[in-house]
Amino acid sequence: MLRLVVLISGGGSNLRALLQRCDDPAFPAHVVAVGADRDAAGLVHADEFGVPSFMTPFTAYSSREEWGDALLEAVRPWAPDLVVLSGLMRLLPPRVVDGLGPALINTHPAYLPEFPGAHAVRDALAAGVDETGASVIAVDHGCDNGPLLARERVAVLPGDTEATLHDRIKPVERRLLAEVVEGIAAGRIDLKERA
Ligand code: GAR
Repeated sequence: MLRLVVLISGGGSNLRALLQRCDDPAFPAHVVAVGADRDAAGLVHADEFGVPSFMTPFTAYSSREEWGDALLEAVRPWAPDLVVLSGLMRLLPPRVVDGLGPALINTHPAYLPEFPGAHAVRDALAAGVDETGASVIAVDHGCDNGPLLARERVAVLPGDTEATLHDRIKPVERRLLAEVVEGIAAGRIDLKERA
């Protein structure tokens, strides 16, 4: 049973889906803690599922590195087997990537390496593409360019807005994330090998 720490910044709908999956005794992971870089709305899902949460507010530190060190200190006591960035909208400093990796993964609402960054859905719409997608990657020192663990195409439909497209991408992200967690637990995905 993998011990997961999930880090979020926003509404945490993907976190909620993962917490629901973890309620299934057949699912090989459970969330031991949820962390956020701000007073994220999604922390309510941790409360609802009786999972402890913590906050390491980015704005309380004078540099990204100091924030990262505090985040590392907040995560470590939970002794996670895997840390999941599920909508954490911050680039992690190298010390955090090295400290938590290689068991550190990120979900992203695009078919990486297309549309990396914080506005992947908006960028896909602006580019006028017919298809975008969802990805799960291992986190490295770059921005959304770590080794791909899973990805799937999602069609852009006529009339799509950022909200409607993102709402269709998220269920795919949730399924891919669950599949990757299962793959890691079963040894089919070896994060050390991919680091
Ligand atoms: C998800 O689509 C996630 O992939 C994205 O933020 C959303 C969080 O939604 N992350 C990124 O864009 C990271 N580059 P949620 O808070 O409803 O789970």
